[in-house]
Amino acid sequence: MQVALVGLGVMGKNLALNLIEKGMTLVAYDKNPEVGAELLSCAQSLGMAERLHIVSDLGDMIRRLETPRSILLLVPAGELVDKVCSDLVEAGVEKEDIIVDCGNSNYKDGIARKLKYQNKFEFATMGISGGAEGARHGPAMMASGSEGGWERIEPWFEKVAASYNNESCFARVGQSASGHFVKMVHNGIEYALMQLIAEVYQLLRHGTGRSPKEVAEIFESWSEGNLNSYLLAISSHILSLETEQGESLVDLIDNKVGAKGTGLWTAQNALELGIAVPSLVAAVQARHLTNTIDTPAAKEMTYAAKSTESVEVDLDELKQAFYFASLLCYRQGLALIKGASRAHQWKVDLNKTLQTWRAGCIIRADYLDDVAQGVEFIDSLEEPALALRRTTGKAIATGLSFPVLAATQTYIATLSTPSNGHLVQAQRDYFGEHGIKTHSGETCHLTDLVEIDAKVR
Ligand code: 6PG
Repeated sequence: MQVALVGLGVMGKNLALNLIEKGMTLVAYDKNPEVGAELLSCAQSLGMAERLHIVSDLGDMIRRLETPRSILLLVPAGELVDKVCSDLVEAGVEKEDIIVDCGNSNYKDGIARKLKYQNKFEFATMGISGGAEGARHGPAMMASGSEGGWERIEPWFEKVAASYNNESCFARVGQSASGHFVKMVHNGIEYALMQLIAEVYQLLRHGTGRSPKEVAEIFESWSEGNLNSYLLAISSHILSLETEQGESLVDLIDNKVGAKGTGLWTAQNALELGIAVPSLVAAVQARHLTNTIDTPAAKEMTYAAKSTESVEVDLDELKQAFYFASLLCYRQGLALIKGASRAHQWKVDLNKTLQTWRAGCIIRADYLDDVAQGVEFIDSLEEPALALRRTTGKAIATGLSFPVLAATQTYIATLSTPSNGHLVQAQRDYFGEHGIKTHSGETCHLTDLVEIDAKVR
């Protein structure tokens, strides 16, 4: 099987080596010949160079490929994807050729591109997770669509992707550009889990006075059980690192958190679709808050430093709270995918989606089987639910900040305790006559039910 790859950045280069290793013949393009030469020498040192052809001209790439062609794009999301697509049209791609955008593109761009290029070539999308290491040895691949050409490359991607219990972490999860939507939500969950771990660290460090190294040991012990996850493992490792002078590595790092945008897209889409993912939104805003000092409104948002209180934490209870909150972060992401799939008629298969997250990706975790069991299972977890409630209360009482912990507790509480929505509905009707619905399903106004005192009105 022969495939072309455009873009030899960190992800492109590592995926290229993975593809060759799995037996594909690769024509690799980068406009910078030095990058191509670097890949070639890497492949040579691994004894795999005979299946690699480096080109720095798209026309040359097109001529070398057998038809129908299969081309993977690993270029930064945004305008560059369109630029490369139109360059490829000029270079001679044809209607039966498939071009798969493998970057972190916005799914809305994917839908637009499918339309834009429908008479020129088959445009397909696939989200890839796992960073450089994943790309090299087995990433999670969230693909979608039913474009002609998939049947040629799919069996190969199944081999190239990570696998879990002998099942590939490549899947076409649904129709259209839903693969990129799923990858976007993967990143939204990633933001929430990262922030959640940071908050547990915060509670242990500044709430109970433990050192980063002590927190690392706690995380490591959790990782030995069913709480094992990639993000917890790397956090434990990071917190264990010290300089030669014995200074903790994290204490040398500025607190402002960066973002490339996929978490923000997740929040935006959830808000637009009216699907509540408070933990995911809170994680995005937690990052924004760390950057407040650099915003034009900084003066209005700068407050004097306050002292905080220390607290006793039962480690077993904290562990259960962390487990329960983690499950709820995934469930919110899955609810968003389900809602978007219904709205766009993508027919996304949630089991296939979870299968792509089992290995190779950033949010892989041993407890994904528990996530897959769904809401009934989560409902049966009475002790962990209580642990989350108690832990959140204690954490907040320290005066420190716990946006994702609080949002997650609020999420489950809103869905499982008496609601106060009736008062807000009444307020809306009181001043705006927006109408209310009674328990019997009747739509009316407050004034239909009671006479309202004109003075208050
Ligand atoms: C992955 C990662 C990867 C990356 C994102 C998010 O699945 O391999 O999600 O896509 O880390 O770029 O990064 P930001 O935190 O910069 O938004």
